[in-house]
Amino acid sequence: MTIKPLKRISGAFDLPGDKSITHRAIMFNAIAEGEAKVHNALLGEDCLATIDCMRKLGAKIDITDDVVTVTGAKKIKNSQELYVGNSGTTMRLLAGLLCGFGVSAELDGDESIRKRPMNRIIEPLTQMGAKITANEGNFAPLKIKGSTLKGIEYTMPVASAQVKSALILAGINADTPTTIIEPVKTRNHTELMLASQSADIKIRKNKTTVHKSSLKSVDVYVPGDISSAAYFMVLATILQGSGIVLKNVGVNPTRTGIIDIIKLCGGKITMLNRRRTGEEPVADMLIQSTNNLKPFVIGGDMIPRLIDEIPILAVLACFADGMSIIKDAKELKIKESNRIDSTVDMLEKMGARIQATEDGMIINGTGALMGGIEIDAGLDHRLAMSAAIAGAVSLDGVKIKNAQVADVSFPDFYKIFERGEV
Ligand code: S3P
Repeated sequence: MTIKPLKRISGAFDLPGDKSITHRAIMFNAIAEGEAKVHNALLGEDCLATIDCMRKLGAKIDITDDVVTVTGAKKIKNSQELYVGNSGTTMRLLAGLLCGFGVSAELDGDESIRKRPMNRIIEPLTQMGAKITANEGNFAPLKIKGSTLKGIEYTMPVASAQVKSALILAGINADTPTTIIEPVKTRNHTELMLASQSADIKIRKNKTTVHKSSLKSVDVYVPGDISSAAYFMVLATILQGSGIVLKNVGVNPTRTGIIDIIKLCGGKITMLNRRRTGEEPVADMLIQSTNNLKPFVIGGDMIPRLIDEIPILAVLACFADGMSIIKDAKELKIKESNRIDSTVDMLEKMGARIQATEDGMIINGTGALMGGIEIDAGLDHRLAMSAAIAGAVSLDGVKIKNAQVADVSFPDFYKIFERGEV
């Protein structure tokens, strides 16, 4: 795939549905009583893997355009082979869910998934009574043997919405209550959706308690994915003379770190028509280009609110006037790639002044990227999309190898570039 430099971008854009919310809407309705429609579902590869797994477990799932109709399984079946592809969310949430139902199953995924740590769920699930074996006790394939669970009180050592969600899903079928304490608040889509499905769940700041519950089906209107909006936001902020409207963006405060940072840099983002779809806050967003971008420092509690946006924020930092610092982001090392190294390598090759640190990176903004090179996105969709935006704002463009990996979360991503002015 070749990305040419763009002069500017304008117009109104619809976004693909939120990946985290689509996974949950399908998974939770697949274990609920009744039938539900999931509108504006993201049908990227990750969510298709969730659909495939839930069908194997006994749910009926039909897809017409972007509406997914889910009829909950009467009984969750044992399953020898559940393949999650590239999706960490599918693997971790499903592991919690399966342990709760006391069924036996084997979960596996692609080469990238097999490198991602699973002991963060294996350890607390085992404390609850689950029986899970894994490669070196940590890596997929995961073999789950049916058992009954009891609740625990668990203080999570890392801030992870996937771990929290896995434990909540195990907890809704455990014999005694489960309490999970997060070091830093992470995305709360699981809690919001389960509450709307009549689960017995109580949230007090960073502490969530669940009791044994049966779920009711609920229709979901999936908002546009702010993590996909991020690429447009950075593109329109950098390309002078740009102005775009992004419609129907999910703006749950646990996900809006990117908006706060772009505004802090002096970026122009105007929120329009704020509303709610179901439990989730949504808005349209007007984004206009800015010529005096200030550098930023991100770390601490902010990290979980923008964890998936760090590669694209690093692209933005190249255009700020001065030194930007990203810290406390060790979790990036265990995403679809080691995103500290892969982002730094990619931007360095494009001509950025950037260096990796133990828990993040330091970027000296020069106001330009050269480009004119090839980047291999490997198995990382967010690296592919960040490289494409970096190419579009560079002097010589970029070639991307394995560009189609963007389909994991944003199937029509490269169509953006047809709407920009060359
Ligand atoms: C996700 C949680 C985050 C995020 C991932 C999606 C979710 O992962 O990076 O893309 O849907 O719960 P962690 O929980 O590992 O931080």
